[in-house]
Amino acid sequence: MSISNITTQPFNDQRPGTSGLRKRVRVFQQKHYLENFVQAMFDAIGDTQNQTLVIGGDGRFYNETAIQTIVKMAVVNGFKRLIIGQNGLLSTPAASCVIRKYQAFGGVILSASHNPAGQDGDFGIKFNIRNGGPAPESITEAIFQLSQKITSYRIFDCDDISLSEIGTQHLQDMQIDIIDPVADYAELMADIFDFPAIRALLCNGRFQMRFDAMHAITGPYAKEILEKRLGAEIGTVINGIPQADFAGGHPDPNLTYAPELVAELFAENGPDFGAASDGDGDRNMILGHGIFVTPSDSLAILAANAELIPAYQEGLKGIARSMPTSQAADRVAKALNIQMHETPTGWKFFGNLLDANMATLCGEESFGTGSNHIREKDGLWAVLFWLNILAVRQQSVSEIVRQHWQKYGRNYYTRHDYEEIPTDKANQLIDRLQKQLPQLAGQELNGYKVDYADNFSYHDPVDNSISENQGIRIGFTDGCRIIFRLSGTGTQGATLRVYIEAIEDNPDQLFEDTQTRLKDLIDLANGLAGIQSITGRAAPTVIT
Ligand code: G6P
Ligand code: ZN
Repeated sequence: MSISNITTQPFNDQRPGTSGLRKRVRVFQQKHYLENFVQAMFDAIGDTQNQTLVIGGDGRFYNETAIQTIVKMAVVNGFKRLIIGQNGLLSTPAASCVIRKYQAFGGVILSASHNPAGQDGDFGIKFNIRNGGPAPESITEAIFQLSQKITSYRIFDCDDISLSEIGTQHLQDMQIDIIDPVADYAELMADIFDFPAIRALLCNGRFQMRFDAMHAITGPYAKEILEKRLGAEIGTVINGIPQADFAGGHPDPNLTYAPELVAELFAENGPDFGAASDGDGDRNMILGHGIFVTPSDSLAILAANAELIPAYQEGLKGIARSMPTSQAADRVAKALNIQMHETPTGWKFFGNLLDANMATLCGEESFGTGSNHIREKDGLWAVLFWLNILAVRQQSVSEIVRQHWQKYGRNYYTRHDYEEIPTDKANQLIDRLQKQLPQLAGQELNGYKVDYADNFSYHDPVDNSISENQGIRIGFTDGCRIIFRLSGTGTQGATLRVYIEAIEDNPDQLFEDTQTRLKDLIDLANGLAGIQSITGRAAPTVIT
């Protein structure tokens, strides 16, 4: 056994995106590709001597291979202790929980979230810092810069370690603890929520629920928490065994990619409550019998009911949402007289607000909700939050949502995605919109008067950093909005996202069909951006 210094050359495509470096598995399988990135990461994150590092991933193809490489590099880069989920597994929220609980220096999470997995699918790697949240741009940019100058990396030449046995082992002077990936997270959930009340609901002989783990990481978490600790019927969790290729699926919990769950909840005798999570466990979709709760509404409803939950009964410090997320939560913040923050897309922007105790709950339209309990969004946490509300209020999801709209008004909301459009066309479309912006304010378009039209820029109130060009937004005087941005997470071509929101306060018009209600604004958005003429697409790929 010896330390090797391997000569290498830079790869020019190692700039981490919104959630780390995500590429096709085959890209990661290139000689030195992963090692280069890991060395750049270890060099960028500061002094790694004598530090503790958490490692785990969503179990997708290449997870264990990558972990073995990272372990062999960690030992020669000075780490004193590694904490690794058994079989290399840790959901993203569980990794955040473990980093915080053991006061680790940070963690390496192996995941490409909801992107398809397997030999022909995607893989990803990201670094989370001491607070349990994704590394800020200063670090990810430093990783990229170092990856562009790399000439060698250091690795220990030894056999693979065992990832399957819980317990402690050593590699040279480094201690490696293989831990139960679920236990710490389950304990945290039991501290936050009223487990006895949820148990009583799940065991009352009437309440039916379904949780779709989509063949990905949340299976073991949901089985342990929902079925074992909370007494839900066995079989409540479906698709609960994580598979390296997610059974060929696309584990993104939304109306398009979880059609069986949606069909079940909309069937005549369907369950009372349904939920799904994504590949790495940080996203969630909430359904009631015959109703889909938009992520934006979900955030608003959780905030409005937070005092029913043991961990939040003292009240919320504030709420934060990403800019394209609907303004439904703003109405709740106003009623509660607490701060509301609007950030760019990307969970990392919530980190400072949570650390500074300026926000307690955060949410994004992209099926992400979370709180100050960790520094990632958290799928199962959102599911438990809803169950806790249902247990206390003893009403259906549909009643709770309808009453919420009656009290606060409704923000009709939809997102239209155009996936895999050629990058040059996407840029052309954004440029065209950008050029129109200065003339738009004050204009009347199809009966809607433009209040402001700009490219969103965020001033972080904690570290005073400024993030520009975070999405084109056109706001109307009645509060309606049209927003355009290009996805930061796609791996093939560009994805255009169009977000449409209309405000409704008339009690007689709260229960219309969303697409019908928003049609005027959708047409207006298509016209302004020239979607069909520029991309040739007559309809979106995905509507949520
Ligand atoms: C990831 C991030 C989220 C973000 C989402 C949407 O899931 O963790 O914070 O909202 O991507 O990103 P996109 O750029 O594809 O709209
Ligand atoms: Zn995810």
